[in-house]
Amino acid sequence: MTLIRLQKYLAEQGIGSRRACERLIQEGEVSVDGEVAEIGQQVDPASQKIAVKGEAIRTEEPEKIYVVLNKPANVITTAKDTHGRRTVMDCLRGLEERVFPIGRLDQDVDGVLLFTNDGELAYQLAHPKFLVNKTYQAWIKGEISSDALKRLREGVPLSDGMSAPAQAKLLKSRKNASLVELTIYEGRKHEVKRMFDAVGHPVDKLRRIAFAEIKATGLRSGEWRRLTEAEVDVLRKSVVLQPENI
Ligand code: URA
Repeated sequence: MTLIRLQKYLAEQGIGSRRACERLIQEGEVSVDGEVAEIGQQVDPASQKIAVKGEAIRTEEPEKIYVVLNKPANVITTAKDTHGRRTVMDCLRGLEERVFPIGRLDQDVDGVLLFTNDGELAYQLAHPKFLVNKTYQAWIKGEISSDALKRLREGVPLSDGMSAPAQAKLLKSRKNASLVELTIYEGRKHEVKRMFDAVGHPVDKLRRIAFAEIKATGLRSGEWRRLTEAEVDVLRKSVVLQPENI
């Protein structure tokens, strides 16, 4: 049960300003479960019937939306940029519902970025105490050795502590560059770039190819689509609590 002050709830539902809602309550125009309401009354909109001028307020939650964007490399992950730069929100043209990004990708990183209006699931997917796999492909400088790959798998020292065990696979090797696929379940700031720095192979180009198994296959750079129900199911199941938090 979530209790909220009646005038705050009415204002959040777009009935009017907080002041206007207080006036409506004072004038006896608002009822809770059929009784005339009072200013400051705590209500549980999920279980109580709230009406204004005899008309019930819709209490259903807005439909939950889940979207995957193939983020281009030149946009920043923020809901609103104060410097007028292009943001990931500008890529979601055509989507009418309000959503927010789940976690973030650096400006120069492209690939899978998820959005939702489901605060609970977004919290779990972005929080480090839940283990959610994120897979990256990185073009790095130099030819990476099997020893360096092993160190990435076991954990490397970073300024904020050792990185957690990861999966690391060499995909391509050239004279002065290597393409490595790295799967991590943490999500510290610039973590992948810092992990490669720590083994002496700075990243030239980074792409996230999966977030909790969700991919952007078939989407061109800057395109988005809604997740299927099966994908949302996969997302929910991907949230696993770290053993020390269980
Ligand atoms: N690791 C990084 O270094 N950058 C990102 O955007 C994501 C993971």
